[in-house]
Amino acid sequence: MTSSSFLKLAAAGLLISNVLAADFDWETLTATASLNWTSCYSGFECSLLEVPLDYTGADKRNASIAVLRLPATAPKEQYRGPILFNPGGPGGSGVSTIVSIGAEFAEVFGTQFDIVGFDPRGVSFSKPSVSFFNTAAERQNWIPSDLDSRYPSLNATSEVISRNWAQFQLIGQIAEERDTMDFLQYITTDNVARDMLQISRAFGYEKLQYYGVSYGSLLGATFATLFPDNVGRIAIDGIMDWEAWYSSDLTGSLMDTDKTLQTFFDGCVSAGPSACAFYAPTASQIASNLASLADSIRAQPFPRPHLPLARHGRLQLLSQLHLRLSEGNATGVYTANQTPDFECDCTSDAAPFTANIFESQIATACGDGPVVNDSITELREFYTNQAKVSSFADIWGHWRIHCDGWRVHREGRFQGPAGGNTSFPLLVIGNTADPVTPLAWAKKAAGLFPDSVVLTQDSPGHMSLVAPSLCTHGALRTYFQNGTLPAPGTVCAVDAELFPGAANTTATAKARTLIASSDSDNKLLDAVRAIGEVVRPIAAMGRALL
Ligand SMILES: *[C@@H]1O[C@H](CO)[C@@H](O)[C@H](O)[C@H]1NC(C)=O
Ligand SMILES: *[C@@H]1O[C@H](CO)[C@@H](O)[C@H](O)[C@H]1NC(C)=O
Ligand SMILES: *[C@@H]1O[C@H](CO)[C@@H](O)[C@H](O)[C@H]1NC(C)=O
Ligand SMILES: *[C@@H]1O[C@H](CO)[C@@H](O)[C@H](O)[C@H]1NC(C)=O
Ligand SMILES: *[C@@H]1O[C@H](CO)[C@@H](O)[C@H](O)[C@H]1NC(C)=O
Ligand SMILES: *[C@@H]1O[C@H](CO)[C@@H](O)[C@H](O)[C@H]1NC(C)=O
Ligand SMILES: *[C@@H]1O[C@H](CO)[C@@H](O)[C@H](O)[C@H]1NC(C)=O
Ligand SMILES: *[C@@H]1O[C@H](CO)[C@@H](O)[C@H](O)[C@H]1NC(C)=O
Repeated sequence: MTSSSFLKLAAAGLLISNVLAADFDWETLTATASLNWTSCYSGFECSLLEVPLDYTGADKRNASIAVLRLPATAPKEQYRGPILFNPGGPGGSGVSTIVSIGAEFAEVFGTQFDIVGFDPRGVSFSKPSVSFFNTAAERQNWIPSDLDSRYPSLNATSEVISRNWAQFQLIGQIAEERDTMDFLQYITTDNVARDMLQISRAFGYEKLQYYGVSYGSLLGATFATLFPDNVGRIAIDGIMDWEAWYSSDLTGSLMDTDKTLQTFFDGCVSAGPSACAFYAPTASQIASNLASLADSIRAQPFPRPHLPLARHGRLQLLSQLHLRLSEGNATGVYTANQTPDFECDCTSDAAPFTANIFESQIATACGDGPVVNDSITELREFYTNQAKVSSFADIWGHWRIHCDGWRVHREGRFQGPAGGNTSFPLLVIGNTADPVTPLAWAKKAAGLFPDSVVLTQDSPGHMSLVAPSLCTHGALRTYFQNGTLPAPGTVCAVDAELFPGAANTTATAKARTLIASSDSDNKLLDAVRAIGEVVRPIAAMGRALL
């Protein structure tokens, strides 16, 4: 029995999908070989950078990359160039992310830097944009926005795998047939890495300064492999393994997933009934209560009328939702899992879509990988093997199925191996219980780039940003500002409690809170806390996970 229907993980990393198309019209900009800034959003500057579509030069067309910066505000003589950011996905819009949390990043990294978000080729405001569908209605039909339809449990019925297989065979076919401009083959991670070098050079910097989370870590490692002499600073966080990625087999991703849930059970026990509403005296009792709850709801669901979408600035506590649910009140779980209603101007031809995470994710992830041609029997075996690693396999096997139908693979694309002697060591950050990118992958990545250092953050959750830590985020700041790496083996506690208000906060948490007494420390923690508010629900895709 799995608990995954309550605790669905993101089928991707950090995904910020704010649709900002209405706030600034990128169509008014002309792509140019150098950065030509125009004021945009509020306090930001936007530019479309012209880059080669095909870096071999065989195809002479250009792509245009949407680049946005929050300009440095420190005195000119202190200016230290751009820090590029990628929010993961793949398919996440760096532009949208930096519009929402750029100011907080400036607080973390320092005002000497331009904080730069860009939409990777294929994504949102960059061109070419990936879109397989002709209208919003058609798109909704193929890839429903509600997550249960989009990522149904592969073990819900014996038919889900075969049905999904058929669906993605067709999506792969549609994507290929409609790629009449022959763009899709160029939407790969190696080309995004090449684009990052172009962006950095357009700022006048031969060496890249970059922070990438989740899939963004793979992008950073790919850059460091392709351009080891162009590494200024690269910090990667929530590490995706290159072998897993470039073979379209993310099974290992689930290594620490059950451990993450265990952290909730254990934390609930030590927090006690006053701080953890789903409390039971032992972790195994809590686990079994959760499993029984899932069973009983499968046997008899709560019929719910439609509720208007409630936006949660902050996730309600998982334990409270579970308690309410066990008492027969499904309101909280319903609203925490709700997705916006589908709406479209169905008379207009809305494609291509700027909120195209799903399509650009498939194009990039599957285009990076090998030709996957698993039979349905092989997909069932794949799922069975994943289920040996984690009880969450039923919501993670989708990657493989999605790629099974994908047909566009460019000859000569980068597929690893990753690694190399870089002109500056990498800072590699991993959490002790990351449900999507296990700590072992951070250690492995660091081993591929001599002199790079792993910083371990002792917390559950996907990537360090889910919890503020003076230790982790102070080290991140120091790395960018001074080039100092933390001592190898550094383990950072977080300055946050899993169960606020618990009588039994650990001694470590208390000590850290005392240290955070200076104004600048508090500002740093506040900034990461604010980033966490934005990334946590998205990292869990609104599924109330940590
Ligand atoms: C592509 O961009 C480069 C650099 O801006 C420019 O020199 C070239 O003319 C462009 N090529 C096409 C086909 O637009
Ligand atoms: C820079 O952008 C502005 C509009 O934002 C445009 O008028 C101008 O021609 C552009 N400059 C170049 C060199 O393309
Ligand atoms: C799949 O579902 C069946 C029936 O509910 C259950 O017996 C089995 O344990 C599940 N498999 C996995 C791997 O969770
Ligand atoms: C307090 O929490 C710590 C860490 O989780 C645990 O080891 C300890 O047993 C707890 N103490 C009590 C009294 O519950
Ligand atoms: C059900 O739970 C919600 C919050 O999750 C709460 O606002 C509401 O009052 C509860 N309803 C009842 C009948 O207890
Ligand atoms: C996939 O496998 C099927 C059945 O083995 C075969 O007919 C088909 O040609 C294969 N497709 C590709 C693209 O390799
Ligand atoms: C890095 O440099 C060392 C010493 O020069 C060399 O032995 C090693 O093979 C290099 N590693 C890579 C991945 O290039
Ligand atoms: C960087 O180094 C300078 C000079 O040694 C020091 O004043 C500053 O506090 C350091 N900054 C960080 C973030 O460690």
